Amino acid sequence: MLYHDAGLAWLHFVFAFILVGALFAEAVLLRLPVDARMARVLLRVDLFYGASAVLLILAGISRVVWGAKGWAFYEAQPFFWAKMATFAVIGLLSIGPTRSFMRWVREAKADTGFVVSGEEAKRVRRMVMIEVHVVALLLLFASLMARGVGGA
Ligand code: HEM
Repeated sequence: MLYHDAGLAWLHFVFAFILVGALFAEAVLLRLPVDARMARVLLRVDLFYGASAVLLILAGISRVVWGAKGWAFYEAQPFFWAKMATFAVIGLLSIGPTRSFMRWVREAKADTGFVVSGEEAKRVRRMVMIEVHVVALLLLFASLMARGVGGA
């Protein structure tokens, strides 16, 4: 069980780190002028973000079901549910930036001089930064959940 649980924890950390890394990359790249090439780069980074989120959910479910503590432990943890709710909020917040990146790439195909206005890039960056802060909150819930704080 020890190696099994350690393996699932490792997978969970790898996907969580890729997700957080992709989010920070978007926040940094959105400080630079967004032309056609940068719009394509942002969309590719966002693809990593999306794929890591899906793999993170699968690794997370695997930990809940097949990990050392089992479903009965997590079911009784208020911070497990707080973590799941926070993860859902992050998912919803990520829709806006993803749609912007997709639209920018589309518009750039039709316009060789395509550049995103500073105002619009700032607005999308603000949404990405809100996600970053909500991830920090999720990490707090993850730490409390793992130690059974507030649970039965
Ligand atoms: C942005 C998304 C997520 C991040 C950054 C994240 C991060 C973490 C971290 C840092 C831990 C270790 C906590 C500790 O030992 O102190 C952890 C544990 C865990 N996470 Fe996640 N997680 C995420 C999403 C999920 C999801 C979606 C699930 C379930 C579907 C999940 C299930 C778990 C489980 C079961 C543990 C083990 C806790 C324990 O040791 O008892 N996580 N997560």
